[in-house]
Amino acid sequence: MVALAVKSLNVWYGPTHALKNITVDIPVRQITAIIGPSGCGKSTLLKSFNRLLELNEQVRVTGQVLLDGREDIYGPGVDVTEIRTRIGLLAQKPFPLPMSIFDNVAYGPRIHGITNGGLDKVVTSHLQAVGLWDEVRDRLKAPATGLSVGQQQRLCLARSLAVEPEILLCDESTASLDPISARGIEALLRKLKEKYTLVTVTHDIDQARRLADYVIFMWLGELVEHGPARPFFEQPGHTLTQAYLAREIG
Ligand SMILES: Nc1ncnc2c1ncn2[C@@H]1O[C@H](COP(=O)(O)OP(=O)(O)O)[C@@H](O)[C@H]1O
Ligand SMILES: [Mg+2]
Repeated sequence: MVALAVKSLNVWYGPTHALKNITVDIPVRQITAIIGPSGCGKSTLLKSFNRLLELNEQVRVTGQVLLDGREDIYGPGVDVTEIRTRIGLLAQKPFPLPMSIFDNVAYGPRIHGITNGGLDKVVTSHLQAVGLWDEVRDRLKAPATGLSVGQQQRLCLARSLAVEPEILLCDESTASLDPISARGIEALLRKLKEKYTLVTVTHDIDQARRLADYVIFMWLGELVEHGPARPFFEQPGHTLTQAYLAREIG
């Protein structure tokens, strides 16, 4: 089953042709890793999946991204807010909102009209889902900025999940964390794929080997090779992929 079908996707930043005719299917409830060297278009591809690129006025997008393999998120009349609810993003660095731990997780559900008792339940269950509940249950009203960076990233993950997305995009989401917190997030992602489709950008080949079920390898804005993780890592078909995995280039 296909979560996102990307068809002939091109992206330009002004004169820079950042994504060149990308066509690929993102499988449902698996972890897809987008790998490749810095500047190859990983973040651009990820952001194209929930229309975050349009925050930049210079950007031009052609092609399609079909949600559930059907609905073009770039189609006319699409509700961008709904798209960003269904397809959430966990950024590289944690950005807790300047409010309490509770309110961070309650933020999205409140906008969706959930109140009081419902909110308590949503906040508790999502803090439990990211393994933060026992650490923060006694200080839910304290500012989120008082948490450690690793805790903040798990809080941001809880905030993303609290609006019940179908797909979660992660852009180098462990890169700013200490190794133990990073492994904690990796373990969470592996668990979350039971319920969500995950797409994670990483320049860390070892992390991609640990996490990925499916791999997309980018080079200078082009998709060089993609496929299920085992054959991708064990028998890459393209010489560029072989050289990149052998750390000879990139
Ligand atoms: N906001 C932007 N304005 C102009 N060019 C950009 C912008 N963001 C990215 N680019 C360019 O697009 C290309 C791909 O960038 P990016 O998707 O961030 O790569 P990666 O995430 O793989 O490092 C690069 O050449 C980069 O310089
Ligand atoms: Mg990037």
